[in-house]
Amino acid sequence: MENFDWANLSFGYVKTDYNIRCYYRNGKWGELEIHTEEEITMSMAATCLHYGQEAFEGLKAFRGKNGDIRIFRPYDNAKRMVCSAEYIEMAPLPEEIFVEAVKQAVKLNEKYIPPYGTGASLYIRPVLIGTGPRVGVHPADEFLFVVFVTPVGPYYKNGFKPIDVIVDRDHDRAAPCGTGHIKVGGNYAASLKSQSWAKKQGYSIVLYLDAAEKKYIDECGTSNFFAIKGNKYITPDSHSILHSITNLSVMDIAVDMGMEVERRKVEFSELDSFDECGACGTAAVITPISKIVDLNNGREYIFSDSDIPGKITEKLYNKLRAIQLGEEEDKFNWVVTL
Ligand code: PLP
Ligand code: COI
Repeated sequence: MENFDWANLSFGYVKTDYNIRCYYRNGKWGELEIHTEEEITMSMAATCLHYGQEAFEGLKAFRGKNGDIRIFRPYDNAKRMVCSAEYIEMAPLPEEIFVEAVKQAVKLNEKYIPPYGTGASLYIRPVLIGTGPRVGVHPADEFLFVVFVTPVGPYYKNGFKPIDVIVDRDHDRAAPCGTGHIKVGGNYAASLKSQSWAKKQGYSIVLYLDAAEKKYIDECGTSNFFAIKGNKYITPDSHSILHSITNLSVMDIAVDMGMEVERRKVEFSELDSFDECGACGTAAVITPISKIVDLNNGREYIFSDSDIPGKITEKLYNKLRAIQLGEEEDKFNWVVTL
């Protein structure tokens, strides 16, 4: 598209031309439908509005070095949406329908895919909502699946630059046996207050500790946490964190680079021993962490200068981006090209 300031895009919503929809009615999923309007119509008693019967996904498409359209790991998002749907009693959408809807949404909105080399990408947002009317707390019997896309720049405004993080010990985004491991709207509603609290104090994001003991690191509000210690890539294992597809990818890349990967409970007290820390996710990509502040003990854990990312974090970022953009062989078979 001409006259689009791709290099200065923020992570915001821009209306595109088409969205893809699929309805679940009378016990089965219908055909994919192409829509141009942004609005959706539903009963005011829809379960998504009252009881948060809603799940979503986030993935990206890139314009590759050779001009192809590259969607990153859509089957993994499709699988995760099935897990989210089943956990909150929604009709799971078959993976093939999910991926086909994503492909159509990307292809039809091709002119919004940022050109190679701009640093921007096309963010894909699949959403599954309960539309059936209920007033008692029961699952809906009708659902709507929608995929829309929007061109985005970096989630944190300076791109691949270290961010400052604050620990929030007063709020939890998810309970130990709750919904933290699935991608449902309620987790994000629960994080809004602490995110505003962090922003007001000048921090980019919140780091959550495990809700039961506040002893272990869980994750950030919109991304998984990782640390580098010598040749090790360390990332928390917890029931209440989202299984990040980016993190899984970075773990594979780390192993491929000859690093050791540890996915385990990570004690907050280990922070002192880490060389580098970062956050990873579709929107965040890999974001280096410059410092983590804990008001509880008054400590600042510093990992890098505010504008110089850690060396290993940068290497992992470059590898991931190179695969996403088709600059390097996709030896893990992650990318679906159109
Ligand atoms: N954790 C949370 C809470 C998230 O919202 C996200 C974003 O999707 C992630 C982690 C990263 O997951 P993924 O890499 O699959 O985007
Ligand atoms: C993502 O990284 O895709 C997310 O969903 C994070 C946030 C924008 C909700």
